[in-house]
Amino acid sequence: MIWPVKKTLVLLAFAFVFAAISIDQTLAQQVSDAAKTEKTGKHSAALVNGYEPMWWKEAVVYQVYPRSFQDSNGDGIGDLNGITQHLDYLQNLGVNVIWLSPHYDSPNADNGYDIRDYRKVMKEFGTMADFDRMLSGIKARHMRLIIDLVVNHSSDEHRWFVESRSSKKNPYRDYYFWRDGKPNPADPAHPLPPNNYPSFFSGSAWQWDETAKQFYLHYFAVKQPDLNWDNPKVREDVFALMKFWLDKGVDGFRMDVIPLISKQPGLPDLTPQEMQDPPRLWANGPHRDEYLQQMNREVLSKYDVMTVGEAIGITLEEEPKIVNSDRHELNMVFNFDAVRVNRGDFYSEKKWKLPELKAIYDHHATALSKTDWDTVFLSNHDNPRLVSNFGDTSTAEFRVRSAKLIETMLMTLKGTPFIYQGDELAMTNYPFTKLNQFDDIEVKNAYKERVLGGKMAEAEFIAESQRFGRDNSRTPMQWSDAPNGGFTTPAAKPWLAVNPNYKEINAGQEQADPESVLHYTQRAIALHHAHLAFVYGDYKDLDPDNEQVYAFTRSLSMPGKPEERLLVVLNFGEKPVEYTLPGGMSAGKLVLANVPGTPEMGGSVLKLGAWDARVYTY
Ligand code: NOJ
Repeated sequence: MIWPVKKTLVLLAFAFVFAAISIDQTLAQQVSDAAKTEKTGKHSAALVNGYEPMWWKEAVVYQVYPRSFQDSNGDGIGDLNGITQHLDYLQNLGVNVIWLSPHYDSPNADNGYDIRDYRKVMKEFGTMADFDRMLSGIKARHMRLIIDLVVNHSSDEHRWFVESRSSKKNPYRDYYFWRDGKPNPADPAHPLPPNNYPSFFSGSAWQWDETAKQFYLHYFAVKQPDLNWDNPKVREDVFALMKFWLDKGVDGFRMDVIPLISKQPGLPDLTPQEMQDPPRLWANGPHRDEYLQQMNREVLSKYDVMTVGEAIGITLEEEPKIVNSDRHELNMVFNFDAVRVNRGDFYSEKKWKLPELKAIYDHHATALSKTDWDTVFLSNHDNPRLVSNFGDTSTAEFRVRSAKLIETMLMTLKGTPFIYQGDELAMTNYPFTKLNQFDDIEVKNAYKERVLGGKMAEAEFIAESQRFGRDNSRTPMQWSDAPNGGFTTPAAKPWLAVNPNYKEINAGQEQADPESVLHYTQRAIALHHAHLAFVYGDYKDLDPDNEQVYAFTRSLSMPGKPEERLLVVLNFGEKPVEYTLPGGMSAGKLVLANVPGTPEMGGSVLKLGAWDARVYTY
């Protein structure tokens, strides 16, 4: 342990939680094993409430952004050995799977989402031996590892692209999208881009290349050229690199912007209507499912893996095409409807009301069938901090309560829950006030386009980036109240500044406080593991129109077992309320509450305080 804490108390607390979690996990496994021996439904494997039991359906996933997790060598950049140092912490938290954001060799135009060598570890993060040690440490603790697969594009420094751009005749030329420009009557020496595609990171999605006098396509940064999946050799090479990591023992992939791999034939201009939402078109290319099915057939089906796609541009209705188990593509996807419920254009805020969020979750629970699977998440490295985004950081007390409320929701909704590093501590957004405090290419490019382009005032841009910018979630983990929050050595300069609130908000302090968000998150995760109803159970929103209280049930009947009936009641806001459960329903025994001293029995009228979150039997 690297933080100065009251060690005895911490060890005792951890020993207790760890014991509880081990028992819960065994329980979940036993129930699921028992379920596998039943024969119900049309599938030959035993089903639980119509679902085929799978380890990745029962998992809780924790995302690690390696650059910001723990620096072990004092260079100010997180690394793999830093992750290995904290594996006990993660095991004690109760998570089963770690999703590691890209750890590959990269020039870091987009913090590793621009890969130079898919078979090498990023120098700043360590060596392959460090990776192997981390992986075996994860396995020794009965956890699993999924890694980020970023293959819609590579880095422009990848060997394939270096070859590709070297000449039109190079065998790698067709690994990327090269096109002639359109004539530019005003300036014939400088042709116009081949079509009107915009880049996610501002400007055109086409970059002029002087060598061959052609443009190449990049949906993201100029240094992230899109790979041409229509070329069978590209697919072959991608499948080979996937096998390389699977053969090392990784347990699957989070697939970056995977629906974008099949481009529109002929790459015609977007119509004005398509221009409103280009990813809609880009994500629905004609060969997307064919390529994913090939990937599944040739790679994924040969291993016991978990796959989760970043489903940009896909509606909920379209999701089953990718996640339905009968189609043999991916296990699940991230759908952004919930996490973006409060988002307008780019970083602007959209007012929202609780019934909108409930409607989204209700839609998820009804639109997906028993042969589909879902994810639940409200944060990641591309979004603000969970509590700053959806909770209340106006006081320390509300920060803690609201963070606990959100964790309760994530662990009890339908789908595999994903949490992001620092959520368990209720880390907050960074108080950015100036452009030079940001590192993210998305912010920097948008500044050029919006502020320097005269579309927006600087102060407004900074305020919006402070609210929604991606660097909020990328500030270093706050491990202790030591200088630099224990993320790196006191003398080092972290690659991105540590949030100044690290003295109050840090893992050491939270480990010592049994009522901290950290300990609560452990309890919420343990609860998730203890009840298969939270995994396979039915979901019912009891009061969809209520603007303050979110009340829902999860219930599960399994032959030969008592029915599991759980009621979740969340008071979304600081206003206390005397809440009468709908339909004459009565809450039974309390199984989890975010406020100490909550009465052990519920009843039909619940007195809910600010940001109260409770789980009862009913
Ligand atoms: C989605 C990733 O989550 C994001 O961080 C990245 O910038 C883009 N894809 C491009 O890879």
